[in-house]
Amino acid sequence: MRLLIMGPPGAGKGTQAAVICERLNIPHISTGDLFRANLAEGTALGEEAKKYMDAGEYVPDSVTNGMVRARLAENDTANGFLLDGYPRTIQQVAELDGMLSSKGLDKVIELTADTDEVVRRLLNRAQEQGRADDTEDVIRRRLEVYTEQTAPLTELYSSRGILVGVDGLGDVAEVTDRIFTALNA
Ligand code: AP5
Repeated sequence: MRLLIMGPPGAGKGTQAAVICERLNIPHISTGDLFRANLAEGTALGEEAKKYMDAGEYVPDSVTNGMVRARLAENDTANGFLLDGYPRTIQQVAELDGMLSSKGLDKVIELTADTDEVVRRLLNRAQEQGRADDTEDVIRRRLEVYTEQTAPLTELYSSRGILVGVDGLGDVAEVTDRIFTALNA
């Protein structure tokens, strides 16, 4: 399975991706996690990404595309993968199409959740984990950028017949069940 999970900040992409990948035995490729890992290791890529992440803006394609291309070239992706947070723009869709060539994505999972709930979840995470981009102002900016640049991707993937919409509200296990029901439909 070659999958993509998308949805606004706080919709539960990372949480659900971990469960899906364990069940399907495929790697979880999260661009946000890759940037944070680079930052923790003190790489130049991490330092560059931080400037954008802390402001709630997208990291430039010049940094992001190459990082994903290198990750997808690793051996563990041979039997599938779950992309989380890439592509986020129409330009990144074109880049990914080029990376995957004839073997395109099988399904795109769109997790939905209303703004009040995602803000509540992220402010809660701010208290528990102190993630730098989980301040109220930055969360609002991340949501705006998602609406402007990433939400239009759902139309594109829908026109390819591979989009499955999943309600992201409710217990984590309940949402997981919805995802597998939608994937198996
Ligand atoms: P990224 O790390 O992908 O952040 P995000 O999209 O804002 O998503 P989050 O991780 O905040 O939320 P999520 O939907 O994964 O939810 P989660 O499961 O964590 O990206 C960070 C930044 O990197 C971007 O802003 C950008 O700067 C840059 N970036 C990344 N990709 C890029 C790209 N392709 N191009 C350019 N820049 C890029 O859950 C959130 C919280 O809710 C957790 O505390 C969780 O425990 C809780 N939760 C989850 N599910 C439930 C539930 N069902 N009920 C209650 N609580 C729940």
